[in-house]
Amino acid sequence: MTKVAVIGAGVIGLSWAKLFVEHGMTVSVTDPRPDLADVVPAGVQVAASVAEAVRDADFVQENGPENLEFKKNLFAELVQEAPAYALLLSSSSAIPSTAFTKGIDGSRVLIGHPFNPPHLIPLVEVVPGEQTSEESVQKAVVFYRSLGRTPVVERKEIPGFVGNRLQAALSREANYLVEQGVVTPEDLDAVVTNSLGIRWATVGPFLGAHLGGGPGGYRHLAEHIGKSMQGLQLGTPSDDPEQLIEAVEKAYGSSTYSALAETRDRKQLAVLTALEEN
Ligand SMILES: NC(=O)c1ccc[n+]([C@@H]2O[C@H](COP(=O)([O-])OP(=O)(O)OC[C@H]3O[C@@H](n4cnc5c(N)ncnc54)[C@H](O)[C@@H]3O)[C@@H](O)[C@H]2O)c1
Repeated sequence: MTKVAVIGAGVIGLSWAKLFVEHGMTVSVTDPRPDLADVVPAGVQVAASVAEAVRDADFVQENGPENLEFKKNLFAELVQEAPAYALLLSSSSAIPSTAFTKGIDGSRVLIGHPFNPPHLIPLVEVVPGEQTSEESVQKAVVFYRSLGRTPVVERKEIPGFVGNRLQAALSREANYLVEQGVVTPEDLDAVVTNSLGIRWATVGPFLGAHLGGGPGGYRHLAEHIGKSMQGLQLGTPSDDPEQLIEAVEKAYGSSTYSALAETRDRKQLAVLTALEEN
């Protein structure tokens, strides 16, 4: 049976653990948090240390703090402690693996970056570092496919990879529009979920633009409407997030995390089911 070690049991680690165990894998989790035994999904083993968690592991999925020093130290330990055949994957949102594998053997280390929550959202960005072997890339692709995920291999390392860079571009303008009082956080979210969100669940920005050009396709769009869009001056939000924090807490702070997450999961599952049927 495939054995997976999950290092770090916060938002992402717990969601991965749920997905792994649901796919019949043996899952061992470690995290210094004192309530670890209370938060792990049913059927997941709790390990007292990294060494214990990775014993006999075929795959290690790292989800610790997003901090370069932490990842450097942890991956140096993983290379020593995990079996030589184990693939060592990091969920890092923005740090390329070349940055934390200097001075160690990084041939089986790479990024497997999910979108939250990984037990529901299909994408996993597979990003090899300078030392990662092609065999490791292919093993990661097969592993994530076996979990029903959609791995996309990105051949050039760039901080934030692709998904989070796109998200950052949208968030930047969203933050600016709320700070300027153009819309509230709820109204901005309504604009996205009632337009771009639905469109992007079915066609990406390029196919969407190709269709937006009508029968003339992307060329027509780029040469006509595209020109007026290029002239838009986008905003720069302030460096201090306090105003936005207060606005978002005012919008959503009266609901509990579990209630909001449950609604999100239910709706996302409904979208995924509808897409599978079409
Ligand atoms: N939250 C997201 O939306 C998201 C999405 C994709 C990827 N990620 C990435 O996943 C990783 C984890 O993010 P998160 O949001 O789950 O953070 P989190 O703060 O919820 O969880 C991090 C966990 O790491 C644990 N930890 C600290 N030191 C540890 C150690 N020495 N050994 C093992 N565990 C340790 C903490 O106790 C905590 O439970 C980060 O690299 C992040 O960039 C996050």
